[in-house]
Amino acid sequence: MRAMPDLTAAPRARRLFRTSIGLKLVMAATGVVLSAFVLGHMLGNLTALGGEAAMNAYAESLRKLPPALWGIRAVLLGSLVLHVWAFVALYRKNNAGRPAGYRVTTFSASSWPSRAMWWTGPLLFAFVVYHLLHMTWGTVHPDFREMEVVTDPVLGTHLRAHTYHNLVTGLRAPGVAVVYLVAMAALGFHLHHGVWSVFQTLGFSQPRRASAARRFATLFTLLVCGGFALIPLLALFGRLG
Ligand code: HEM
Repeated sequence: MRAMPDLTAAPRARRLFRTSIGLKLVMAATGVVLSAFVLGHMLGNLTALGGEAAMNAYAESLRKLPPALWGIRAVLLGSLVLHVWAFVALYRKNNAGRPAGYRVTTFSASSWPSRAMWWTGPLLFAFVVYHLLHMTWGTVHPDFREMEVVTDPVLGTHLRAHTYHNLVTGLRAPGVAVVYLVAMAALGFHLHHGVWSVFQTLGFSQPRRASAARRFATLFTLLVCGGFALIPLLALFGRLG
């Protein structure tokens, strides 16, 4: 006899994502995707240390497969939306089950890195909007150069990026470099607590495993934020371009 399909599976999955553990899993999974992006983006930015040709060649190579690029952008946007949604749903859930007046106690009882997520999250969101207007669309950039399609007798028709020029001229004003540095500090707080929380969600509560998880969170944060901060720091001290 053929097995009957499990018709309860879909509602069960939906029910799981309404529980606290389901929402924490959504935050953890989307947090891992976003962390992988910042690590990759930081490594890509470091091509600037190799000079103009190296960074522009890297930017051109990212555009060689448009479906892959748009696929990655869609996954990133989806992850960001789900990450914020799960956070808001979790917050509402935690407050709904409490008697009136309990909220103040919860806030003061939570750790400061956890409370810092309240301002680092919106600050990072505002930074990403500014950053896209600055480095991707050029709307708030003083001398933005669009990518061009050029035809060359040797290379044929290909894209020519001006990412290095946009980076160097975009960070030349000290105020702008400082905005980037402040945003990287906020990213540091957010990333450190976020990575640590992923391990907590996965049940790393035993002291030895918890301290290994904390060490990993610290190293990962230093690597990503230190690598990112290098570029505006070099710009600030006149060492870029
Ligand atoms: C010092 C720090 C950073 C620098 C110097 C920097 C630099 C850049 C540059 C030059 C581009 C344009 C790349 C191109 O056109 O090929 C870019 C794009 C982008 N950056 Fe950053 N970035 C920094 C930090 C961040 C952070 C922390 C995030 C996210 C949290 C971020 C998110 C993005 C996104 C989403 C794009 C658009 C990518 C696309 O074309 O789809 N960046 N960045």
